[in-house]
Amino acid sequence: MAFVCLADFQKKAETILEKSSLEYFQSGAGDELTLSLNREAFKRLRIRPRFLRNITKLNTTTTILGCEVKWPLGISPCANQRLAHPDGEIGTARATGKTGGIFILSTGSNTPMEEVAKGAPDTHKWFNLYIYKDRLLTESLVRRAEKSNYKAIVLTIDSQISGQRRADIRNKFSLPPNLSFANFSDSKASTVKSSGAGSGLSEYFSSLFDPTITWKDVEWLVKMTNLPIIVKGVLTREDAILAKEFGCKGIIVSNHGARQLDSVPATIEALPEIVDAVGNDLPVMMDGGIMDGNDMLKALALGAKMVFIGRAAVWGLACNGQKGVEEMLSILKKDFEVVMSLSGCLNLKSIQPNLVAHESTYAKL
Ligand SMILES: Cc1cc2nc3c(=O)[nH]c(=O)nc-3n(C[C@H](O)[C@H](O)[C@H](O)COP(=O)(O)O)c2cc1C
Repeated sequence: MAFVCLADFQKKAETILEKSSLEYFQSGAGDELTLSLNREAFKRLRIRPRFLRNITKLNTTTTILGCEVKWPLGISPCANQRLAHPDGEIGTARATGKTGGIFILSTGSNTPMEEVAKGAPDTHKWFNLYIYKDRLLTESLVRRAEKSNYKAIVLTIDSQISGQRRADIRNKFSLPPNLSFANFSDSKASTVKSSGAGSGLSEYFSSLFDPTITWKDVEWLVKMTNLPIIVKGVLTREDAILAKEFGCKGIIVSNHGARQLDSVPATIEALPEIVDAVGNDLPVMMDGGIMDGNDMLKALALGAKMVFIGRAAVWGLACNGQKGVEEMLSILKKDFEVVMSLSGCLNLKSIQPNLVAHESTYAKL
């Protein structure tokens, strides 16, 4: 099967992955209302293209928090990538480097962060942090990320406990014996195993992540390291303003791929109010539901400086390891370039809010 778009990788991955892994990657929380919304909301936006502009010199490069990237696309942190393919996080990180984006490594990586750094030295890498009850352990993750040349800490703020992912509860999700959260040597922090009552991941969150954290702890983190702190999971202007006040250097508008609280807005819906609140002061980025160049363009038009994909990278990985992610990214890049050209946008600065209109603008016709 020749792959033409990202959905092709998903279809193929669905035939390859074993049920519990597939459902772990695919599913959202609750009734999965937000999971559908993340895709549907993009469809409600129309592109208003401008023509007769010489489009021969297209420039997709930008700089984000000191990282020069070839295009505004990165890989969101996704735990457990070796469940998709033995190439795992190193394969995804290398593929990301080849296309010139940013790779965010999850705390719940199946490969230690030092090995990913060694395996993909030329890739811009950020480290995704969860705050554990054990603060010394949390701090040690930050110190190791600093040493291994990760360029930012991406703090997930939407997951003090796990969302109710029904598929994982039904499947009593556990990692197979050959895989672990490899950033940890201590077996309590490295093992994801259901006790038999439900999702092992949910049990992991409840026993190890700190449910008491507040913005004061964000301040603690900001003071602890010279790396920029980016908060991931912001969905409201109020929290965006707090992120700025507490010293964060960037925001990722995200609903965790609809895996945490269901019924929250699609990220493309939440993006404008956050850009409006802090977009002049901090880079606002987003992820959630991006599957093609049109989606990327719409998010950038509404003010995102960079967009990220989660599951799509996993589908590429499942299909053909590192090579699958490379192929997926090159298809997405080509698509983005075509969409930019056909919209008359020669560079990222020319992608402005008036490039998109909500479908209601045209509803009376
Ligand atoms: C299998 C899987 C694992 C994830 N693990 C993490 C994680 O460790 N940390 C985190 O902040 N977000 C995690 N996420 C959420 C992603 O970072 C991202 O927000 C989401 O996947 C984006 O939506 P998309 O999959 O529609 O592109 C995970 C998502 C998936 C699908």
